[in-house]
Amino acid sequence: MANNYHVPVMLKECVDGLNIKPDGVYVDVTFGGGGHSKEILKHLGPKGTLIAFDQDPDAQKNIPDDKRLVFIDQNFGFLKNNLRLKGFKQVDGILADLGVSSHQFDVPERGFSIRYNGDLDMRMDQHGKLTATEVLNTYSEDKLHKIFGIYGEVKNAKSLARSIVTARLDKPFTDINSLKAAVASYIPKGKENKYLAQVFQALRIEVNAEIQVLENFLQQTADVLVAGGRLVVMSYHSLEDRPVKNFMAKGKFQGEVDKDFFGNQQKPFNVVTRKAIVASDEEIVQNNRARSAKLRIAEKI
Ligand SMILES: C[S@@+](CC[C@H](N)C(=O)[O-])C[C@H]1O[C@@H](n2cnc3c(N)ncnc32)[C@H](O)[C@@H]1O
Repeated sequence: MANNYHVPVMLKECVDGLNIKPDGVYVDVTFGGGGHSKEILKHLGPKGTLIAFDQDPDAQKNIPDDKRLVFIDQNFGFLKNNLRLKGFKQVDGILADLGVSSHQFDVPERGFSIRYNGDLDMRMDQHGKLTATEVLNTYSEDKLHKIFGIYGEVKNAKSLARSIVTARLDKPFTDINSLKAAVASYIPKGKENKYLAQVFQALRIEVNAEIQVLENFLQQTADVLVAGGRLVVMSYHSLEDRPVKNFMAKGKFQGEVDKDFFGNQQKPFNVVTRKAIVASDEEIVQNNRARSAKLRIAEKI
């Protein structure tokens, strides 16, 4: 059942943020268990359209039988081309609920969770070539240092990278337990779960090129949204939230807003939420996953 698959976070806030017109065309780029998509469909009339993306074939079992829904089994990093292929040039609203679904975390073989032993896989798209095993067994010490430091914000990233490179000389990494054993002595006392979660986050971001994909996606949203169209993005850690916040406010990921000769700002969006929306205490009690969610909304100029 979809609810076991994933409980949608800030369902009402996300759907309200899209400001849905019943006849409009909306895109949910992270279909997952379909919780947000099903709510969007409730707000659409018979002539409305919902286009849903998910690169994980597992998500397809949640597709409802609804003629207004067009499902695209592709990476949302190629949003614009995929929309064109289906005959859509412009859309009225786009929702992204970033990261991994509860289902992906709950299946040990997918390798996303520190709770189980399983393959060091971590691919969201099982057709992808790069796995966490390959990252750990083939990347240079320097590259691993950067990944753990930047994507995982791991404090002793340099020693961790060295320990990985040393351990694999003896025996290549095969499963999650082999990784846990190799890094055990680098984990600060009492911080096992937090530390491993950071290491896993770093590997997952690298395997799925999550930051590059997010930046490519954000840039394309500016091309495909109609004027007045809404961009609604929910992220779960600062590495994702930062580019979302900067892009919505400035139309770029670094530096200040571009200005034309006359000093007019050149940016694609106006921010609707000056501060990110967070989940209510009530929702967090019911769904722990909601505790780190940050929702940002912008309107195309
Ligand atoms: C947090 S879950 C979304 C849950 C969904 N909103 C719901 O209510 O069930 C994120 C989903 O997006 C998918 N996903 C993540 N990155 C993707 C990408 N770059 N392209 C396509 N799908 C992606 C994942 O496979 C996962 O199913």
